Amino acid sequence: MKKVQIGSQEVQVGEVDELCRVLADEVESLLVARAEQGKCAVLGLATGSTPLPFYDELIRRHREEGLSFANVISFNLDEYEGLGRDHERSYWCEMWRNLFDHVDVKQENVSVPPSVSDDPDRAAAKYEAAIQAAGGIDWQLLGIGGEGHIGFNEKGSSLNSRTRRVTLARKTIIDAAPSFGGEENVPTHAITMGVASILEAERVVLMARGASKKEIVHRAICGEVGPEVPASFLQNHINVGWFLDGDAAGS
Ligand code: F6R
Repeated sequence: MKKVQIGSQEVQVGEVDELCRVLADEVESLLVARAEQGKCAVLGLATGSTPLPFYDELIRRHREEGLSFANVISFNLDEYEGLGRDHERSYWCEMWRNLFDHVDVKQENVSVPPSVSDDPDRAAAKYEAAIQAAGGIDWQLLGIGGEGHIGFNEKGSSLNSRTRRVTLARKTIIDAAPSFGGEENVPTHAITMGVASILEAERVVLMARGASKKEIVHRAICGEVGPEVPASFLQNHINVGWFLDGDAAGS
């Protein structure tokens, strides 16, 4: 893995398995340190295709090296509106399928924003309060959307945004269409942690893979900071890590 300076940001570039190992090292150190202190580690987690090999590495460490998730509290970034937890495309299901079912995390310590709610504003405020009650997020993982979203903070999301109900951008719906068997099946709304909620995490890492992310990742890392590319707000986080494979870095 090599460190590359892009604008004001230091960026880690490497093979996907290398990136995943380094990210898993970060998580492992945090989990071990917190366990020694008799405390929980609070992880902020993402869905989508980007983190899958990283979750595989965490599962491997659990199985082969005994890394325990018993003291993990996790909050997922976002959830589609209306799918219900038993829907196979819900992020709740995705997280269990791809990580939680394979490690020793306690179900009561896992939170994903509610996909169904009579009162989304109240549910969103409750989600924020739960993060605060857990002591805030120690380590937040992010992917990046085709137009620069983090979580489902689409273009136009403000620096002060909090967990809330949002309308998905057309590009987000198009990108999700194959896994839903067509655009018409993709929910039009979601609930997402806000930009401010994300930036409060002690450490934030953004991972991107593949040539399709190259341009937007560069805008996020060294373009103008603002709501046009919500991921650009990370430039001002004091403990941000950018983890790119060669294709996303364009190297
Ligand atoms: C998912 C999320 C999204 C994804 C982004 C990239 O929880 O918050 O912001 O990280 O859409 O998705 P992939 O990784 O599928 O390219």
